[in-house]
Amino acid sequence: MLNINTDEVHLWLVFPDSIQEPELLLAYNKLLTEEEQNKKQRFHFKKHQHQYLITRALIRSVLSHYVDIKPSAWCFSKNQYGRPEVITNTLPLRFNLSHTEGLIVCGIVLKQDIGVDVETINRKNATKDIAKRFFSTQEVIDLYSKPTRSFFDYWTLKESYIKACGMGLSLPLHKFTFHIEEHIKISFNSDLHDDPNQWRFWLLEPTPSHRMAIAVRDKVNYRLNMKVIIPLVSEQKFNCQILNMS
Ligand SMILES: CC(C)(COP(=O)(O)OP(=O)(O)OC[C@H]1O[C@@H](n2cnc3c(N)ncnc32)[C@H](O)[C@@H]1OP(=O)(O)O)[C@@H](O)C(=O)NCCC(=O)NCCS
Repeated sequence: MLNINTDEVHLWLVFPDSIQEPELLLAYNKLLTEEEQNKKQRFHFKKHQHQYLITRALIRSVLSHYVDIKPSAWCFSKNQYGRPEVITNTLPLRFNLSHTEGLIVCGIVLKQDIGVDVETINRKNATKDIAKRFFSTQEVIDLYSKPTRSFFDYWTLKESYIKACGMGLSLPLHKFTFHIEEHIKISFNSDLHDDPNQWRFWLLEPTPSHRMAIAVRDKVNYRLNMKVIIPLVSEQKFNCQILNMS
């Protein structure tokens, strides 16, 4: 069994387009509950069905690295905002998932709230309009002095924070501000009643076309441990550039 310490964040990455063998996909399908099978079928596009299937195989097989439970036997609950959590557990494992074109990521920690967001950075248009609509005033001002691509740094960090809080978009994105300079800092509107000192953030470049952000609610000096995995088949150490951290 794989060990995880209280000062570690484990990140598991999958490149879904590289997994196409019919026998392996069949094995992944066998891990799904009936409810998950039905949800998969409801995706209109095959590529979204594929992403959903690989994501389920990822979380189920990753959790089984830490606890002696079969990948198919894990049970999950969801909070009122849709955040999944592990029910079957002898270890206090917490996780968060994110998927985008070409990459799926699962972050694992012990006990603490974790949020992960990954995005492709190919979109060139409308980034400033999206920022004006959703980001805080200070973030919009800061973005004007930065390259267009910086939009994705803010976007992924903001998503990682709301995902760690587990509240999705019911947490207004303009009520907290990321300051991305040498280090990442966050500030909150007073009505959010949150404390910047309780948070750790990382901004990473897993591939030249993806941005990834991680948020953990804790003051510990975490170590990131990254692996690329083909669920049920293989895994290997993965190194990528940390662009920035808190
Ligand atoms: C659902 C949401 C939590 C993340 O959505 P997203 O960024 O589109 O999708 P991601 O791939 O990063 O994350 C999806 C995963 O997060 C998890 N998730 C779902 N609800 C969650 C919640 N309330 N909190 C944390 N994680 C959640 C799930 O595991 C989900 O994957 P699954 O359905 O395959 O299990 C929410 O923040 C959202 O709807 N965002 C929309 C994006 C947007 O418009 N952002 C504005 C610019 S900042």
